[in-house]
Amino acid sequence: MSYRIPFNRPCLAGNEYKYIAQAIANGHASGDGPFTRKCHELLEAELGVPRVLLTTSCTDALEMTALLLDCGPGDEIIVPSFTFVSTANAFALRGARLVFADIRPDTLNLDETRLEPLITPRTKAIVVVHYAGVSCEMDSILEIASRHGVRVVEDNAHSLFSRYKGKYTGTFGCLATQSFHETKNFTCGEGGALVINDPDLIERALILREKGTNRARFFRGEVDKYTWVDLGSSYLPSDLLAAFLYAQLEAREEIQTKRHRVWNSYHAALGDWAEDNDVRLPVIPSDCEQACHMFYMLLPSVEQRDSLISQLKAHSILSVFHYTPLHLSEAGQKFAARPSDCPVTEDVSDRLLRLPFYTDLTEDEQAHVTAAITNSRIRVLKQHAS
Ligand SMILES: Cc1ncc(COP(=O)(O)O)c(C=O)c1O
Repeated sequence: MSYRIPFNRPCLAGNEYKYIAQAIANGHASGDGPFTRKCHELLEAELGVPRVLLTTSCTDALEMTALLLDCGPGDEIIVPSFTFVSTANAFALRGARLVFADIRPDTLNLDETRLEPLITPRTKAIVVVHYAGVSCEMDSILEIASRHGVRVVEDNAHSLFSRYKGKYTGTFGCLATQSFHETKNFTCGEGGALVINDPDLIERALILREKGTNRARFFRGEVDKYTWVDLGSSYLPSDLLAAFLYAQLEAREEIQTKRHRVWNSYHAALGDWAEDNDVRLPVIPSDCEQACHMFYMLLPSVEQRDSLISQLKAHSILSVFHYTPLHLSEAGQKFAARPSDCPVTEDVSDRLLRLPFYTDLTEDEQAHVTAAITNSRIRVLKQHAS
């Protein structure tokens, strides 16, 4: 079914076709070509980090993370239950056990006040997700982790170029992962990156990303042939995808300005309606500069959430919900270290609704969405009840 207003529409920044044509003309369509280098340099300079490596997805960057940290049987990894499956699956693949953490009711980020009791002598890493492009409470999380000698990884799929206390998310943990999937702020269809903040992890990351070979050393002239030296896989995207991505990253300010407009318009148009109807809009703590990845609302009940999705569908608007709590999923239970208690995750998962959100969402399209919401029957229900 096609919608007048889809949930997502991939948006071009302008130079994508030109750069892809250049990448083809360059005669280097495989990984680590000129456009991959440009993306690496741009991200390293902007984020101020020692190394960034493009990958084929955020999922693959997470899998590289699990390999780099030597996660395996006997290790526990703390992850929020309220996240995409890849955040957890990457570590389960290596044989580590998952400990699911609950989220804060305001930002829907990992609840740092309930983190410490989850740490055991087996805990190897805490993986945080900066949900919806709003940073976790990194000061507390880093302090708890360092007291216990545990590494912190940031799944920054939603949050590239958002800041916590003035510093970019993705620059706090030893490693961070990015997504350039078509639903993200910056895209090349499918893509990702590993941000390496701990310089000691760089050399091995290059090996893992090149099928476990020391090819990078060979290209630097440090060995006379390259051989298999470690585990690894093929995590390099084609330079054609890097060309697409580079056009998007170059236009980062323009893309983010447009997304801020979309987010602010939703917030302004829905504020009164939300208050009248006990609907909670996103909370942005004062020390966070958000990335405007999505606009979500928390409806008072699962019935009202599902009813609003159906009513919007009748106006040819696609709204969606997520995430199904991982600690209740079949695989989550199979790979958990022990049962977890995540009441906020369960409650939020029932009540959350995401509105159409993409860089080129027009004011007219947005007005159609907000009118459909403010005229919806959840308001009428409330008026009758009061
Ligand atoms: C928090 C989070 N982590 C990881 C991923 C996986 O990203 P990718 O599709 O690039 O593998 C997603 C995808 O939506 C996500 O939302």
